[in-house]
Amino acid sequence: VAPESTIANEKEAQKLTVDGSFTENKSHMPTEFVWPDEDKAEEGIPELDIPPIDLKGFLSGDQQAVATICQRVNEACKRHGFFLAVNHGVDPNLLARAHALSEEFFSRPHSEKLQLQRKLGEASGYANSFIGRFASKLPWKETLSFQFIHDTKTVQNYFQNVKDQDFSHYGKLYQEYCEVMGDLSLVIMELLGLSLGVGRDFFRDFYTGHDSVMRLNYYPPCHQPELALGTGPHNDPTSLTILHQNNIDGLQVFVDGRWYTVCPKGDAFVVNIGDTLMALTNGIYKSCLHRAIVNNSVARRSLTFFLCPNKDKVVIPPKELITAENPRQYPDFTWATLLEFTQKHYRADTTTLEAFK
Ligand code: SIN
Ligand code: FE2
Repeated sequence: VAPESTIANEKEAQKLTVDGSFTENKSHMPTEFVWPDEDKAEEGIPELDIPPIDLKGFLSGDQQAVATICQRVNEACKRHGFFLAVNHGVDPNLLARAHALSEEFFSRPHSEKLQLQRKLGEASGYANSFIGRFASKLPWKETLSFQFIHDTKTVQNYFQNVKDQDFSHYGKLYQEYCEVMGDLSLVIMELLGLSLGVGRDFFRDFYTGHDSVMRLNYYPPCHQPELALGTGPHNDPTSLTILHQNNIDGLQVFVDGRWYTVCPKGDAFVVNIGDTLMALTNGIYKSCLHRAIVNNSVARRSLTFFLCPNKDKVVIPPKELITAENPRQYPDFTWATLLEFTQKHYRADTTTLEAFK
């Protein structure tokens, strides 16, 4: 089934942003933003209890500490694939600057943001609700994405090539942020390997030389938040997501048949497993459905780093994870093919990986 394209609306996107000026009639909500009842958030969603994982403790090498941390990660990843990374060593100042520059970018006039408009098929650039969306319902958000190819200055170069306006300070900062997130991802990969009993190296080596993506999400206040969604329900097709929210609730995860909120916790990062890593663990660690809601009073922002393997790597789980009780769950595939499949067959209601099977 061909995805329903909203590209026809791109003309409108030239004029409109999803901010206070989007609709003058506050009781009116354009139908593209009204999500089906089953996707809308109900009242009183409880907080998900996700474990804080002490990365300093993990790196200390203290055997008892490492064993406890592995046990916690293992439990969380088998259940829903979400945990918090604390004591991660990322400079709080870098995190603050990354948020501040995101705030600065999204508060620019629309015409300036459109200088970075993401072109169809490209990974980097700015998108508002109307640009390059393939679901039938539109998200109440704006995004700025950039591709990070390990060992090259892709983020920096992307911003340097923009004409008309000097965006080079974005390039420098988000290049640095992605490099730090890349290093953090590899530490987490060691931890995941140990927690699964396959040793430190397997996942770390698999993701060394990764080809990742970063996205800044901006969710402006919405006059009818109960009708809209900031990000519709989806599973991340990528491998590992490292997210930081600006202290405003909005992220929700579907676990054991119901929705839960994942609340921001200071400097801690929310880490979650994506489809590709789920396949690499032979389905043992879960990639979980999640979404982001909006509110009517304050803007919410999140910084997301998506670790992805090098495009041509074939996803084959380590042999220890393939057993008589748990035979191969997914066919061999490369990240390039899964990504292409995801872009062509995006469906909000299921993990792409299941359809890919
Ligand atoms: C996403 O899952 O793509 C966005 C989540 C968020 O903004 O919290
Ligand atoms: Fe996501």
